[in-house]
Amino acid sequence: MRAASHALRPAGKRLGLVPTMGALHEGHLSLVRAARAQCDAVAVSIFVNPTQFGPNEDLARYPRPFERDREMLEQEGVDLVFAPTVEEVYGTVADKSVRATPATWVTVEDLSGKLDGRSRPGHFRGVTTVVSKLFHIVEPDVAFFGQKDAAQLAVIRRMVCDLNFPVEIVACPIVREADGLAMSSRNAYLDATQRKEALVLHRSLMRVEELARAGERDATKLAAAGRAEFVKEKSVRLDYFEIVDAETLDPVADVSAGALVAVAAYVGTTRLIDNVLLAAT
Ligand code: PAF
Repeated sequence: MRAASHALRPAGKRLGLVPTMGALHEGHLSLVRAARAQCDAVAVSIFVNPTQFGPNEDLARYPRPFERDREMLEQEGVDLVFAPTVEEVYGTVADKSVRATPATWVTVEDLSGKLDGRSRPGHFRGVTTVVSKLFHIVEPDVAFFGQKDAAQLAVIRRMVCDLNFPVEIVACPIVREADGLAMSSRNAYLDATQRKEALVLHRSLMRVEELARAGERDATKLAAAGRAEFVKEKSVRLDYFEIVDAETLDPVADVSAGALVAVAAYVGTTRLIDNVLLAAT
C-alpha cells in the first residue's frame, strides 16, 4: 500500500485519504468528491475496525457490502482502495472472530472520554489507533472526515496536532436524507417505524438552531429545548444532548462564540448521532 501510495504521489502531488468502514453512502461519497477536488490522487480505506467497537456493540453485524462499495468508488474515479484484513492491520489477533488486541495504543487523553467517548468507553482509543496506523501506512497529505462524527473529528485533530502528523485534516459537511436524517451506515438497521422515529434527532437540533437564531444564548435553556423533543418521542432513548465547544468538547454556558450542539440516541438498539454547529454572533 505504501509503495502504491508513493507511486500516486510524485514530487509536489497531493494524496488525499478518505478513511471509512465501508457500507458507503452519499456522505462518504461527498468526502471522496472533496478529496478529488482538493488532491491529485485519492485513496479510500475500507476497514471495519474491531478495536473501536465495545463488547456489546454491532461489530459482528456491521454491514460489509464490499463489492458494492468497490464499484461505487470506481465510479467516483478513486485511485486506490485499501481494504486490509484485521490480521493485516493488527498482526496477532487474540480471538479471530471478534476483536484484535494491539499492545500499542494511541490515546488522546481527556477528549476521548467526552460525548461518544463517555458512552462508548475505549471507542476513541480504537479510532485514534487505527487512524494513526492508516496515516503511517498510506502516508496521505490530506485526510477527509465527516462533520457528523464531530467528537471523532475533535479527537483526530488533537492527535494530529499532538503527534505532529504531517497530515491536513479536512472536515466535510453532514449529508442528509431529504427529510433531514443524517446519512449513516447504521440507518440500514432501522425498520420503517424506527426510520420515522429517528427524525427526532434532526428535529431537536433544528429546534435549538431556531431558538439560537431568534436570539437565545443560554446553552442550558437551548439544551433543555432540544431534550424536550425526546420527551415527545418516547420510543427513542436519548444518550446525550450537549452544547459544547467544538474543539475541547467542554460544555459552554453561552453560545455567542459559536458552539457544537451534539446528540446521540438509541432508536431500538441502533445508536445514532447528529449535530449542528451554531455560528458565532
Ligand atoms: O468514521 C469512521 O468511519 C471510522 O471511525 C474511521 C475514521 C474510518 C476509523 O475506523
